[in-house]
Amino acid sequence: MPPGSEVKASSTRSPAFIMKGTFSLRNPRVSNPSSVPASFPAPAHPLRIGLIGFGTVGSSVARILIEDAPAGLQLAAVANRNVARKRTDWVPSSVLWTDHAEDMFAREAGIDVFVELVGGLEPASGWVRSALTAGRSVVTANKKLIAFHGPELESLARHNGCHLLFGAAVAGGIPVIPGIEHGLSGDRITRVEGILNGTCNFILSAMESGADYATVLADAQHRGYAEADPTEDVAGYDARAKLAILMRLAMRVHVHPEQIEARPITTVSAVDFAYAAELDSTIRQIARAEQTSAGLAAVVSPMLIPRQSPLAWSTGTENMVVTCGTHGGEVVFSGHGAGGHPTAVAVVSDLVNLAHGLGRIPGESFPAQVTIEPAVPHYIRFLVRDRPGIVASIAGALAAESININAILQKPGCCADRLPFVVTVEPCRTSALRRALEAIEQMDFVLEKPLDMQILKK
Ligand SMILES: NC(=O)c1ccc[n+]([C@@H]2O[C@H](COP(=O)([O-])OP(=O)(O)OC[C@H]3O[C@@H](n4cnc5c(N)ncnc54)[C@H](OP(=O)(O)O)[C@@H]3O)[C@@H](O)[C@H]2O)c1
Repeated sequence: MPPGSEVKASSTRSPAFIMKGTFSLRNPRVSNPSSVPASFPAPAHPLRIGLIGFGTVGSSVARILIEDAPAGLQLAAVANRNVARKRTDWVPSSVLWTDHAEDMFAREAGIDVFVELVGGLEPASGWVRSALTAGRSVVTANKKLIAFHGPELESLARHNGCHLLFGAAVAGGIPVIPGIEHGLSGDRITRVEGILNGTCNFILSAMESGADYATVLADAQHRGYAEADPTEDVAGYDARAKLAILMRLAMRVHVHPEQIEARPITTVSAVDFAYAAELDSTIRQIARAEQTSAGLAAVVSPMLIPRQSPLAWSTGTENMVVTCGTHGGEVVFSGHGAGGHPTAVAVVSDLVNLAHGLGRIPGESFPAQVTIEPAVPHYIRFLVRDRPGIVASIAGALAAESININAILQKPGCCADRLPFVVTVEPCRTSALRRALEAIEQMDFVLEKPLDMQILKK
């Protein structure tokens, strides 16, 4: 077993295995156990690598390629805007530094493989297209690019006889993508769910320990976990791009990320954690997709997670992905989902595969629509000005949509002028609940929009 990793035995009730921590660079077993010789010889000629983007991940990739390079990989060039600021003395003088990524596409530059670590759609997509069109493979960690343009770029790579690898695009250093593409290709995966955004997990797990949202967000920004504008993370857009990628690889369905409903974590407050604890649960941002005979469901949202669920174990910036296959049951991947070094390990592992002639397992995906809302139990937190008859009014609005109340929770000692209380309801469709809540919002005692969250089953 590689250092830093842990494989737990399965039991009848627990998932099949758990991969925890990041994996050694020199252990490609997760990607393809049978096709890598034990001695792992160096290829005849090293792959000359052109790195575009020398930021958090790019500089970590360069560090590995210079200080601990696996056989067959050679950093040849680095491109970044205003590159003079980025030059460091630990990069050998043989490496070309340039302001213009385009310089590296010239044949004379002798670049075999491009590593795109700038992020975003433009200009990254133009560079990736140019490289693939010229028949040169690309490794990227850019989830947005892969979520929005993955199928088209993969087909361009196939057409030009090269590869597009993106093992770092989901869950950073955790080998979820190679695990799904190689280790689970023999199963029919029908459900993927997980914690795909480390920033939201950091915020929600700190709130669970008593911190308030604004303080913990400022702390996350100070530590470099959250952007100055955290919208992509906290609104769920980052997680839904990653979910769209996992759905394509695991479930073979290609959905546009914007089809996936994304709900923000900003509406969750301290009182929700107090009520969640009463329900022996906690709250996490969950990305979840499921394929049933009735159709395809997908959502990213804060959800109530029972404490016994593996998803409740994940704290700080950790990520976790649970897949469920028809034949193999549940498999859980967990570990560091972000950060320069863990993510760089995934990028370099893709490069090792390329150096040894191992691309991705070709798999077709089919355009699909998110068509169903599974009936699930919900947690609804109201903030009201107390008066007699409130529960009866709420129960009436829910009953009008055929929604059954499961429990009502009210903590003692709250101010009657701003009284938070919780109603949990039996499995119902989100659209029916939305209609009921729209009716309740019009009632005179309601002080703010009620918060509703799915309750994930044990
Ligand atoms: N950080 C993580 O933990 C993590 C995890 C998984 C995946 N990823 C993905 O990895 C990629 C890189 O992320 P990162 O965290 O390393 O980002 P980063 O620290 O912001 O680095 C991006 C680098 O690209 C440069 N750059 C930006 N726009 C450019 C342009 N138009 N031309 C040339 N250079 C440009 C930036 O230069 P300046 O210094 O001038 O801005 C910076 O050096 C992204 O796709 C991200 O989603 C990151």
